[in-house]
Amino acid sequence: MCGIIGVAGGSVKTVVEGLRRLEYRGYDSAGVAVVDGEGAMWRVRVADGTRSVEELALRLADGPAAPVTSVGHTRWATHGQPSEHNAHPHVDCTGRVAVVHNGIVENHTELAAELAAGGHTFVSDTDTEVVAHLVEAALAGGADLPGALAAALRRVRGSFAVAVVHAGEPDLLVAGRRSAPLLLGTGAGTSLVASDLSALLGEADQLFTLDDDQIAEVRPDGVRVTTLAGDPVVPAALSVDPAWDLEAAQKGGYDDFMSKEMSEQPRAIADTLLDRRGTDGRLVLDELRLTEDDLRAIDKVVVVACGSSYHAGMVAKYALERWARVPTEVDIASEHRYRDPVLDERTLVVGVSQSGETLDTLEALREARRSGARALVVSNVVHSQMAREADGVIYTRAGPEVGVASTKCHLAQVVALELLALSLAQWRGTLPTEVVTALVDELHLLPQKVADALGRAKEVEAVAEAVAGARDFFFLGRHVGYPVALEGALKLKEISYLRAEGYPAGELKHGPIALIEPGTVVVAVVTRGAVREKVLTNVAEVASRGATVVVVAEDGDTTAAARAHHVLWTPPVADPLLSPPVTVVPLQLFAYSLARRLGNDVDRPRNLAKTVTVE
Ligand code: G6P
Repeated sequence: MCGIIGVAGGSVKTVVEGLRRLEYRGYDSAGVAVVDGEGAMWRVRVADGTRSVEELALRLADGPAAPVTSVGHTRWATHGQPSEHNAHPHVDCTGRVAVVHNGIVENHTELAAELAAGGHTFVSDTDTEVVAHLVEAALAGGADLPGALAAALRRVRGSFAVAVVHAGEPDLLVAGRRSAPLLLGTGAGTSLVASDLSALLGEADQLFTLDDDQIAEVRPDGVRVTTLAGDPVVPAALSVDPAWDLEAAQKGGYDDFMSKEMSEQPRAIADTLLDRRGTDGRLVLDELRLTEDDLRAIDKVVVVACGSSYHAGMVAKYALERWARVPTEVDIASEHRYRDPVLDERTLVVGVSQSGETLDTLEALREARRSGARALVVSNVVHSQMAREADGVIYTRAGPEVGVASTKCHLAQVVALELLALSLAQWRGTLPTEVVTALVDELHLLPQKVADALGRAKEVEAVAEAVAGARDFFFLGRHVGYPVALEGALKLKEISYLRAEGYPAGELKHGPIALIEPGTVVVAVVTRGAVREKVLTNVAEVASRGATVVVVAEDGDTTAAARAHHVLWTPPVADPLLSPPVTVVPLQLFAYSLARRLGNDVDRPRNLAKTVTVE
């Protein structure tokens, strides 16, 4: 995710050091804007992937030694490809206002149209640039800099954090936020703002949090906070565990990146859903590149992916067939490449890849294009290799994932693929508009439900403790509960190194049931709907053979609970097709608890790599 650091009355070196400490978040480009004591503003931006901050440091090495006011940014592209002209800070038409921004300005298209009609010229492809022009417009209307930012933020929808400097205000930096973190720090003659505690550690004597819809005026001698209406507020002081070093701060107080990233899942889903509805209420996939006509013409979808992305693809099959009525195959990318698949110009091949670089998926997409099929990729990395080569793209907006075992990216993939299925249903006319609208409304409830499921970690831990010591695990499910079961088994294998098999519950009696014996743990995903009863029958079959049964069941499902030794309760989801992002959460937590009990490094499991660029 993007990172912000700003300093008033500090050194350029502090900003560069702050950017270095934000690098761990993952980024593709970086930049700073500096206002010196003479009231001159200059900008340096570099788009050289993970070398950008180092290059920036070299270019700034001869910068002013005297205190300056400056904002810096590491960018993880969401709107517009990673390039120097899309790197932050962005400036207004006068070049005197510079803005850095994290998050998404949801209504940037309409704001940009309005501003352009008013004579503003846009030079980047980002959503951020509208903020610079909104500030410019408010300044022209007579507002001061804090008032201009407040006016801008009143117009903006979405979740964001911004910091702004102005050439005419060498001692002032203003910042604001909504649903994205921003912290303030004060020290002797220097005040700071940052999106991430790691950038402030050791730099400030006192730390404060900024709340939603508050404006911070950051000056060398301290910070002042107001509401958007200009009323002063006392910022809440933030006390930091004195034992925290840089790494602890980067993990945000979590023990590891995996638990931090699991906690970020509600935001990952919410951000992936942001900005997807047009003014007429219809779904719009802005970055898609393929046209509605292209997609109306397809008569088959083939999803190709690896690992957790493959499981997301399996969920997509149910959604694509049910909602868009388009025959869908799901293939493991490394298998797909060598099976001479039947593809033509009416086939849509959907690659699902967090990194956008996994070689097998990339080659499967290349093969698809050679066969004349349309290639679409669902990726978390803007301008990744797959995103560049495919005909179309949908971005998940989970932010960088550090933990090798995918969590938040997997959930964001499921949601992005469901958006694709609903878009296809809308364009192909297979679902009435009001049904699409109702389902999208339900998708928007998922962040809250996922947060609710995450809040039950203690109960999951207790179940994990009860079965700790077991060596053999089966994960069963049917319908969309099946890919959830596979993902649960994969998580357990990846980080706990325990033998875990995911299986379609109905297939159990054709072999694997022979393996069930006292001591085997069977985790069954009980999805609401037509298959619920059938999964419960399968549960009874394994229980009678001595297995220890754990069920993932919706709150209130006492029948399921009565069949099990342990229950992982989940908040109910009205449409079972939308349930996987919720039901997979207790399984992630379950694997996490068992792995931690075994003392494993959950972020860097043995033998595994985050991005697999070999066959
Ligand atoms: C590796 C990772 C998995 C990931 C898979 C596919 O195996 O450890 O977490 O699901 O690659 O990666 P992709 O970047 O293509 O989604």
